Amino acid sequence: MNKTKIILDTDPGNDDLLAIIMALKSDLIDMRGLTIVGGNASLENTTNNALSLLTYMGRMEVPVYVGDASALNESSTSPEEFDEFKSHRIEIHGETGLHVSLPKPSIRPREMHAVDFIINEAESNKGELILVPIGPLTNIAMAIKKEPNLKNWLKGIHLMGGAVNVLGNVTEYAEFNIYCDPVAADEVMGSGIGIKLCGLDITRETSVKREETDWLGGNSPAEKIIRQLLDTVFRKLPDRDYFSLHDPITVLSVLYPELIDWEMYDVSVVCTGSEFGKTIGTLNIDGTVEVGVNIDQELAKQKISQILST
Ligand code: RIB
Ligand code: CA
Repeated sequence: MNKTKIILDTDPGNDDLLAIIMALKSDLIDMRGLTIVGGNASLENTTNNALSLLTYMGRMEVPVYVGDASALNESSTSPEEFDEFKSHRIEIHGETGLHVSLPKPSIRPREMHAVDFIINEAESNKGELILVPIGPLTNIAMAIKKEPNLKNWLKGIHLMGGAVNVLGNVTEYAEFNIYCDPVAADEVMGSGIGIKLCGLDITRETSVKREETDWLGGNSPAEKIIRQLLDTVFRKLPDRDYFSLHDPITVLSVLYPELIDWEMYDVSVVCTGSEFGKTIGTLNIDGTVEVGVNIDQELAKQKISQILST
């Protein structure tokens, strides 16, 4: 059967962990590699988390390429703002970016920079490669800027990010991945590359509830580590009654786009002022960004658990 070639650009990250395992397990996906970005934790931690997860899953053959820390750092914000941002991400994802401990990695990242890997893979697989960014869009914007031909070489981009017709999750305007690098996000949205945008419009409510800890029943290494993660998240966040499947839904959108209702938009991103990180969508049948506006939540959760349980 024809597998879909993807590169997952990720900032693992609790929900990234589930998305990476889905991509590793799905027999419909040819995972060409993981490219790493900072976001849920420092670039060092997100890289280590990716290497540790591949080691835990026994998938050391999957190459890992380090990209850039997301733009949101001490230099782009005031110290108070950056401290507040750091405490937000530590609350959600823990000090190291994951609420589970994984084995020490037995592999190292490849020498090539993530941006060069993305460009090389797109050129070698013209019309076949889908980029699946599930963190800040820093690497993706850099790749498009470095190689404008990406627009013709890529089959498409399925990204997790944005809040088009709903409130954000960092501020009332901004979703986390966009908030971390709005300039990069604006460049990607305006690139003309065909995008399927999996924003909070469909990802916030599609979630595992606190009482659904039997969502994954089996005892495979994947199911055990995910159950451990969910148990820890709900224990550490007593006010949080759900774990949103933001990144898993984005991988699912590659496999089963029909589970999501898409509407064509032009999307731009606010890069300054109080609405920093807001994604502004304008309905346009000739646009290039298909925004996920509705999802079959129960069927999506069922499909995700089926893939994770294989
Ligand atoms: O807003 C949700 C997104 O931010 C997800 O990708 C999550 O992993 C965090 O990066
Ligand atoms: Ca993520």
